[in-house]
Amino acid sequence: MPKAYVHGYDQQEHVRLQDQARTLVDLLHSDTAYPAGSRVLEAGCGVGAQTVTLAKNSPGASIVSVDISEDSVSQAEQKIRAAVLTNVCFQQADIFHLPFTAQSFDHVFVCFVLEHLKEPLAALQKLKTCLRPGGTITVIEGDHGSAYFYPDSDAAHAAIDSQVELQSRAGGNALIGRSLYPLLVTAGYAEVRVSPRMVYVDSSKPELVDGFTKKTFTAMIEGVRQSAIEEGIIDPVAFDNGIRALYRTTEPDGTFCYTFFKAMGKA
Ligand SMILES: C[S@@+](CC[C@H](N)C(=O)[O-])C[C@H]1O[C@@H](n2cnc3c(N)ncnc32)[C@H](O)[C@@H]1O
Repeated sequence: MPKAYVHGYDQQEHVRLQDQARTLVDLLHSDTAYPAGSRVLEAGCGVGAQTVTLAKNSPGASIVSVDISEDSVSQAEQKIRAAVLTNVCFQQADIFHLPFTAQSFDHVFVCFVLEHLKEPLAALQKLKTCLRPGGTITVIEGDHGSAYFYPDSDAAHAAIDSQVELQSRAGGNALIGRSLYPLLVTAGYAEVRVSPRMVYVDSSKPELVDGFTKKTFTAMIEGVRQSAIEEGIIDPVAFDNGIRALYRTTEPDGTFCYTFFKAMGKA
């Protein structure tokens, strides 16, 4: 059986989520700040990789961060306490059974969560019930179909595709970024706008070569090696060739592109 949450909860994945958040902070968060006095729900906070930025960018907002994993919530809480941020409280909760009064939040923030859910539309509908009329939702997701690179490599695409297939077998969708607009509209949000956020990496940007191509994207694909092989999706040689080809794009003549999608809508 594939794992329900394809990336798992081990220490390596914890570090990868931190590297991802640190590398992408400007690209993904620069236009997210909530007014003083507003109540914000962060749904699926994980180990708090985005929570620190949310809390710093909106010091006067009151943030409630929840995750289905008790252990992740407690790691997120430690991270926020270590950063001496006092505007976040944490709770273990399932997006589909949220313990909050209807219309009790001004804003909802969801990052890299819908891609793992069997019912992302139902999740968006549930989250909408938490928002006051006119409140906003912000959703950030990736789309692995947006990965292209130089040198191009069938082996690299096969390794990426094995991750997409594994996630699909677990009920998720690693290609969800392109669907955010129809998902939010169908869930009943108004004034939906989607902004693509492209990461372009070449060796003139060594911090992105390291922080994004190696430690975020390739580390994520590498992380599913055992599961993808056990599921019979790809054989070990093909997978390892693909990973080598992804690292090849980090050499001085290599380039790597990936697009995230940031959607906003109103309740
Ligand atoms: C890839 S992590 C992203 C964490 C964080 N938002 C970030 O960007 O670093 C996805 C998170 O969604 C959580 N999750 C999955 N299903 C959930 C559900 N039904 N309710 C709440 N959290 C859920 C997982 O436990 C995991 O921590």
